[in-house]
Amino acid sequence: MTTPIIRVEDIADYEGQQVTVQGWVYNHTHKGKLVFLLVRDGYGFVQCVAFKNDLPEDVFDQIVHLTQESSVEITGVVRADSRAPGIPGGYEIGVTAFKLVQRAAENYPLALKEHGVDFVLENRHLWIRMPSQWAILRVRAATIRAIRDWLDDNGYINMDTPILTPAAAEGTTTLFATQYFDEGEAYLAQTGQLYNEANIFAFKKVYCFGPTFRAEKSKTRRHLTEFWMVEPEIAFCDLDGLMEVEEQFVSAVVQRVLKECAAELASLGRDTTLLEKVTPPFPRISYDEALEILARLRAQTDDPEQKALLEIEWGDDFGAPHETALTQQFDKPVFVYGFPTAAKAFYMEPWPGRPEVCKSVDLLAPEGYGEIIGGSERISDPDLLLQRIQEHNLPQDAYRWYWQLRLYGSVPHSGFGLGVERTVTWLTGIRHIRETIAFPRTINRVYP
Ligand code: 4AD
Ligand code: MG
Repeated sequence: MTTPIIRVEDIADYEGQQVTVQGWVYNHTHKGKLVFLLVRDGYGFVQCVAFKNDLPEDVFDQIVHLTQESSVEITGVVRADSRAPGIPGGYEIGVTAFKLVQRAAENYPLALKEHGVDFVLENRHLWIRMPSQWAILRVRAATIRAIRDWLDDNGYINMDTPILTPAAAEGTTTLFATQYFDEGEAYLAQTGQLYNEANIFAFKKVYCFGPTFRAEKSKTRRHLTEFWMVEPEIAFCDLDGLMEVEEQFVSAVVQRVLKECAAELASLGRDTTLLEKVTPPFPRISYDEALEILARLRAQTDDPEQKALLEIEWGDDFGAPHETALTQQFDKPVFVYGFPTAAKAFYMEPWPGRPEVCKSVDLLAPEGYGEIIGGSERISDPDLLLQRIQEHNLPQDAYRWYWQLRLYGSVPHSGFGLGVERTVTWLTGIRHIRETIAFPRTINRVYP
């Protein structure tokens, strides 16, 4: 029987068997007649133990002198050992044969010691090999799989929307512009929503899923200039219907990631107690109620700095400190609906009898993470939409097609956008959004 080349994530299936692992040496410890290698194969990290007496002298010598990141093919027998480090861990391989593919150069920049943030970001192309970064990016991939599967299984059709677009959708201040032949300026898409509003009239329930671009001047740990957003859009759906969809969707994604990424989350030290509670229904509060909660928190704190941070006037959108404080009041994600019209985008349906408020809803993730979804019911009346386009000084020509959708079979419709990186930041319990995408783009970084 030939020896199977396994994936380390499946190692438990091979207990007692001889296997081959193709990968790279992450860590290396030499103790007399033993060498302990922590080998990563892309699917996990496993301890391989080379014993001098089991191997030809020249081979053992080669193993003793391995450098970090050397590429190797290791063959050996899998045995269970609860002390064995690794991801998933609990198994090790007793080396019976060894092949060196390349002995890595000695001066690996990310040697196993503490490095500063700028240094690891500058070396992102190597940083992604480290267990924490590997685990976060695996959670990202699982999150994306869960998102697509849920939508595909629930009657949503995937429509890809353009990235080069003629106009703004989420405000003109964060556009990346580029010259488009003789057509003037084109902009990198801030959202696919407007196109999805056309798509629902052909397909009823749709989603787009792609990169979105915001020339955000904000240098926070929640903002990227290029991020991935999934945007479902639904015909015949009002704000209440939208919140129901969102809580079903987010719960399904969270539970699936918990199941598929148990080893990754454990390796990150993520306490998943609260994530396990993410099931429908989610609490719903209005913007007005949120302001009352913030006023109460402000009154309760003795810390003048915190008091100032929680300051907010009716009409303002939330900043990070407001969202953090609000989410700390709830164990689950919380919906905040009914924001002031002036604080939100031009396309949102007004609240019946209260035009200063709109049928918008944000979903805030718990544990201080804050907004992961923005969504709303959209204006369905052509006259009102035209008025809003004018009030916002938007170029009417560029929005002609969008406005025309309201003439031919207009219906109440709603949709939302979930930011993948914000979601993965929450799921993995990390501090900064930049670690949730392989090559982050921020206000001060486009390399590597
Ligand atoms: O709230 P936003 O701006 O909503 C829209 O773009 C709507 N057109 C979506 C829709 O209704 N179809 O963005 C939606 C989400 C945010 O909640 C956040 O998760 C993420 O996109 N997001 C960002 N993520 C990282 N960096 C940024 N600069 C982000 N801006 C928004
Ligand atoms: Mg938003």
